[in-house]
Amino acid sequence: MLKRERSPVFAALAIQAVVFGGLYLLRPMVEGAMGAPVPLLWLALAQGLIAGIATRGFGFSVPWVIGQVVAPPLLLVALALDLPSWIFPVILILLILVFWNVAVGRVPLFLTNRTTSEAILKQLPKKKGLHMADLGSGLGGTLRYLAKNRPDARFSGLETAPLPFALSWLLGRLSGVKNLDFRFRDIFKEDLSELDVVYCFLSPVPMPQLFDKAKAEMKPGSLFISNSFEVPGHKPHKIVKVDDRRQTKLMIWRM
Ligand SMILES: C[S@@+](CC[C@H](N)C(=O)[O-])C[C@H]1O[C@@H](n2cnc3c(N)ncnc32)[C@H](O)[C@@H]1O
Repeated sequence: MLKRERSPVFAALAIQAVVFGGLYLLRPMVEGAMGAPVPLLWLALAQGLIAGIATRGFGFSVPWVIGQVVAPPLLLVALALDLPSWIFPVILILLILVFWNVAVGRVPLFLTNRTTSEAILKQLPKKKGLHMADLGSGLGGTLRYLAKNRPDARFSGLETAPLPFALSWLLGRLSGVKNLDFRFRDIFKEDLSELDVVYCFLSPVPMPQLFDKAKAEMKPGSLFISNSFEVPGHKPHKIVKVDDRRQTKLMIWRM
């Protein structure tokens, strides 16, 4: 299991709570000075702005900051629209089911694009019966593409975010591709010794621990491919620069 990191979700919520407390205390003073009540929209905008600045100050990345800035006004708009009350827990549950691994492993869901999948396909050894796994397979699109294009090989996806796993399983079934399977499994519990190629697109956080596991378990000559995220202290044997919009780098280690 991945070592538990302090969760950014709770830190972000704590920032919102502290800012809310501060504004709650300041509000009577401001209203006294203005001689009028502060409109709720102003408060929501101030809440978002201050929380966003504080979030950046704590070293969070830009998507987190944007989320912090827009959340309070969006919540206010949702309340003003008088949406049915069940909608909020439903949205929360859906977000948890999709972004399950953000809180513990600090790995969000973002997907390998087609150009990068094509580049990965070119890196796969020609060996018949080759077995490749995508550790944290998301919606499974990369593996569906590879499996279609390498019918002589086998592809496995491991995923623990419930909704992406269920979708990848379903889409895999519907695609009719036979050399492909998806399992609801923690990547740190999987034995990697039978694999010829391991692919991962995770985040900087799990890379050192995952690479140590791969080094200990993968057989000599097998490939470990990381999309975008380096392994501190371990230079890759090959770097493939993908000509896509985000200038993806595939780092490849021969075990
Ligand atoms: C950035 S996405 C990449 C998805 C897919 N590999 C792709 O490239 O399109 C990372 C995925 O890893 C999953 N994940 C993170 N930690 C995991 C773990 N310990 N076990 C299984 N899946 C995990 C996340 O839920 C997320 O769907």
